[in-house]
Parts: sequence; structure tokens; C-alpha cells
Amino acid sequence: MFGKRHVLSMREFSRDEIDSVLDLAESLEPYARGGRCEALSGKILALLFFEPSTRTRLSFETAMMRLGGKTLSLGPAEGSAIAKGESLADTIRVIGAYADALVIRHPKEGSARLASQFSPVPVLNAGDGAGHHPTQTLLDLYTIRKESSLEDLRIALVGDLKYGRTVHSLAYALALYGADITLVSPPTLEMPASIKADLAGKGTMVREAHHLDSVIRDVDVLYVTRIQRERFPDPYEYSKVAKSYRIGPESLDGVRDGLIIMHPLPRVDEIAPEVDETRHALYFKQSFYGVPVRMALLKMLMEESR
Ligand code: NCD
Repeated sequence: MFGKRHVLSMREFSRDEIDSVLDLAESLEPYARGGRCEALSGKILALLFFEPSTRTRLSFETAMMRLGGKTLSLGPAEGSAIAKGESLADTIRVIGAYADALVIRHPKEGSARLASQFSPVPVLNAGDGAGHHPTQTLLDLYTIRKESSLEDLRIALVGDLKYGRTVHSLAYALALYGADITLVSPPTLEMPASIKADLAGKGTMVREAHHLDSVIRDVDVLYVTRIQRERFPDPYEYSKVAKSYRIGPESLDGVRDGLIIMHPLPRVDEIAPEVDETRHALYFKQSFYGVPVRMALLKMLMEESR
């Protein structure tokens, strides 16, 4: 359905396209749990991770293997020609000729888009600095659709909204579903003005708050994020906001019955482990949903190029 296209940001997705990824993910979920599927047998996915990753890298790898395909991985930059000074553009041109699609995570904003300009095969952005993380958003939407509802959704995005790429991507997608969004962050870590302006331009209902107490009882989904320590130019600035939010069992008094708490993970200390045992905690299930959703994307992008 997608043909040869890149997955760089949620801004390039329509609601129909998102729904078709989520529908396909639904039908692939049994295979994500261990069934056998050979849809991508003979295909190769290259993984280029220039920043730490656990879930994104391993769920792409799992997704590819569950579809009968194979992966190759660049490994740390010190072990490749990048250590000799090779440019990203050259690396991409070369690996693009070995593989049928590329997944890239890189500390620089815009790097996936740059890669797409040199790649002969589809590029999937697995996080470009503080920019975007569209495949995370697709699994977030899948989780909301399955465990809550995308209709009349009231959601709070909590934490580091300035540097957090997951919330940047998610905000664009939520606008397509007409969600009512509350942005909760310390004053210095608010959602970038350009994204807020884009949301306003789409007629999205957006409120801002600095404290969680006033918000947590009014929402269906609480999407919590880590303060992105590695993006702070000054460690002192990080220390000032590091422990801004912590959701403990006591925070859940009076919340909606169906409230779900999501987190892209890794968490540091923004959600107490005691919350894991409550019916509201969805973050581990959410990370599993990365497999069927990435299977769906890979199938849509790579099957057509046979
Ligand atoms: C996120 C990321 O890398 O942006 N992690 C992930 O992909 N699940 C969130 C984070 O690192 O805080």
C-alpha cells in the first residue's frame, strides 16, 4: 500500500494511512506472539543506531524475524568506517544497496531526512535527536486504540515536552484524531512553540499546566516521559528539573476507572514501581505492541518492492 516511501515524521501521515497501519498490526498480532509468517522472507532490514536503544532496536529486529526476514546491524560507530571520518550520506548510500530498508536513530535532528535523500530504499526514523519518533507514535496509537479509545480522547502529555521526540510525534497524530490535549511540563521544558502553533492551526484543543494534580483526574490517558538528560547543554539545568514529576499510588486517588498510564520507556523515576501493579499501568504492554506495529510498517514498505 505504501510503496517506496520514507517514515520520517507523523506530519506526513493522514488519519486513513495511520488507521491502515493499525488495522494491519491487529491482524499480525498473533504472529508477533510467535506464529509463523514468511511475508518478508529473503528481505533484509539494516539497523543503524547511533544512540542507545533497547526497545526500538530489538522490536524492529523481532518484527523482521517474525516476518521471516533478516536484519543486519551497523554496531557502534567506533567499529565502522564512521570512525575513519565517513559521512552519514556515504554510509547510507552503501548500506542502502545491501538492504531493502533502513532504520536509523541518530542524535542530530533532521538526520533521518538527510539519510532519506541518499537512500535508494525506504528509511524509517527511529528517533532523530529531539526531533521525531514516528514509529513510537504508531505503537502509542495502537495501544490507545486497543486499551482505551481514540474517539473523544482526553490525554495529558507529561514531562520533558521540549526535548522529548516521542511527544512531538504523538502530538501531531493526536491532532488528526481530534484529541483534547493537556501539556504538563516544567516551565523550562514546554512543548516547542512551533509545534503548539501547528496544533492550534489544526484546531486542536490544547491546554498547558505545570502541575499534574489538577489534570490527572480529568484524563483517559496519562502519557509520561523521562526528562531527556542527554539533551541538556548544562547538567545544572538538568538537576533543576530532574525530579519534577513522580507518579506514585497516592497520585491515583480519584482518577477515572479506565485511566491508562503510558510511557515510551525507559523510565527513570517518574513512575513509582508500585504503580506497575495497578490496572492503570500499560507501559509494558505498550512496549510489546511495538512488535505488531513495526511488523505492519515493514510489511507495507517492503512487500511492494518485491
Ligand atoms: C524513547 C526515545 O528514544 O525517544 N525511547 C523509546 O524509543 N522507547 C524515549 C526516551 O528515551 O525517553
